[in-house]
Order: sequence, then structure tokens, then C-alpha cells
Amino acid sequence: MLAELSPALIAEVERAAKLLASKQRICVLTGAGISAESGIPTFRDKQTGLWENYAAEDLATPEAFARDPKLVWSWYQWRRQLVADKKPNPAHDALAQWQQHAAKSGQRLTLITQNVDDLHEQAGSRVTHLHGNLWQNRCSQCNTPYDNGSGMEENSKRDVSFNEDLLTCQHCGDYIRPDIVWFGEALPVEAWRAAEDAAANCEAFISIGTSSLVYPAAGLAQLAKQNGAKIIEINPHPTPNTIVDITLAEKAGVVMPLLIQKILGRVEHS
Ligand code: APR
Repeated sequence: MLAELSPALIAEVERAAKLLASKQRICVLTGAGISAESGIPTFRDKQTGLWENYAAEDLATPEAFARDPKLVWSWYQWRRQLVADKKPNPAHDALAQWQQHAAKSGQRLTLITQNVDDLHEQAGSRVTHLHGNLWQNRCSQCNTPYDNGSGMEENSKRDVSFNEDLLTCQHCGDYIRPDIVWFGEALPVEAWRAAEDAAANCEAFISIGTSSLVYPAAGLAQLAKQNGAKIIEINPHPTPNTIVDITLAEKAGVVMPLLIQKILGRVEHS
């Protein structure tokens, strides 16, 4: 794998590892790009198949659901089917390995994601979801979580059917929607508070696989920077983000295992 990387990039990975090994409080924000190598298209990729004439931005809104709930529900059922068998890739695995190591070495590593898939959890990470969870549903009117009768406190993806028929709330009768934060909606209060706290108090902030276009999540790196943190970006198409201190312009699945291997090597020898 090392042969694929240029000497300049390897030197940057080394620089990032040195920096990260010396810090105690680290905040990591992931976006759709970290799941791309697992086969989940990023949000701004052109849609395929049945949905190629729709932009995701036009379906993931409360207005779209109010206008045509069946269309939006069908799109999410299709996305669930697309994601159901996807597995973590080496970037998710490397982060989970680092998190487990950090718990023992005293580093505080907070992982925040904009993704609604569960690949971080599958890899063994603890993660805060800012934009909801693809496998949960709730009422569009009274917000009651949808219980699909599995008897489990939280529905898991094993219990979700891909049926496109609309479901209705057991309490108020209104339509059930995915428990996902759509454009124009507020983020879950607890998750956002935890993310702001981690960003404002970290010494290093790593942004992985996000276009940094969607606020408020995109503002977390700025918050970290204002409070003195160093900013590292991992993206094969780096964003025009002037606050970044170190750019690792490569796929997350390629660069993360190397980065984590180097960090852990340094932490163990310090
Ligand atoms: N490794 C790292 N980054 C990658 C990879 C990869 N293998 N492949 C693509 N990328 C980068 C792209 O270059 C792009 O900058 O991932 C980024 C994905 O950007 P978006 O699709 O905009 O995803 P994201 O930033 O997560 O979107 C934020 O917007 O649509 C809403 O709620 C939705 O959570 C989503 C949010």
C-alpha cells in the first residue's frame, strides 16, 4: 500500500502522526467520504437507477415529505436497501482501533459523524450522530419513535422492511418518517452539545471525507481553530478550506490505517 503513496504524502502523514501523538484531546468529524470505499455513494454523487432524475437535496427536506410522503419514503427505503449489506472499510477500522487504544493511553478521542449509516458502530467505535440514524423511524407529527413490534427498545436494521407502503403512527395516525435530520431542520440537542464541546476543547481536529458545505457541522472545524486547535483534513479532493494546517489528499481507506499505525507507534514509544 505504501508504494501507492508519494513520498510527499508519506511525509505529511508522518507530520500529522507526530502532531496527533502529542495531543491529549482530539475531535474527529466524518462525512459521507469515509463510507465511499464501503460502496455507499456520497451525498453529492449523482444518483443512479430509478432516482437519477432527483437530487438528494430535493428529497431530504420536510417540504418534500409534506408534498409527497410516498416519494420520500420510497427513496429512503431504497437507500436502506443500498446500505443494508455494507461493511466498514479500513478507515472505520483504523479509527475504532485508535479509539480503543486511546481509552487506555489517556487520549480523549471524540468521534462525531454526519453519516446516517452504522459503519462506525459496526467497526466497534463509539460515535455521536449529528444527522440521525438511517435505521430509526419516528412520527412526522408527534415525534413518537416508531416501534415496529420487534420488542427491542430501539429498532435495528435487521427489523426494517424495505416495503414502500407508508406507515402511520400508533398514537396520532400521521405518517412515519425516517429519524434523520433533513435540510432546514435542527440537529438533535444532546448530540450537537457534545460535538460543540468536543470541538471547542480539542487540541487537534480531524475532518475526514466531508465537503464541509453543510452547517452547522461544517462550523465545528472553525470552532476548534478559534480555540487554538490544529486542523487536519483527509480528502482525495481537498476542500478550499483555508483553516486547514495539514492536508492528506488521499482516500480515507488508504491513508487512515497508515496514519493510525504511525500514531500508535509513537504513543507506545513515548
Ligand atoms: N475518502 C475520503 N474522502 C472522500 C472519499 C474517500 N474515499 N471519497 C469521497 N470523499 C470526499 C469527497 O471529495 C467530498 O468532499 O467526501 C466528501 C463527501 O461530501 P458530501 O457528499 O457533501 O458529504 P458530507 O460532507 O458528509 O455531507 C454533509 O450534507 O447532504 C447532507 O446530511 C447530509 O450528512 C450529509 C451532509
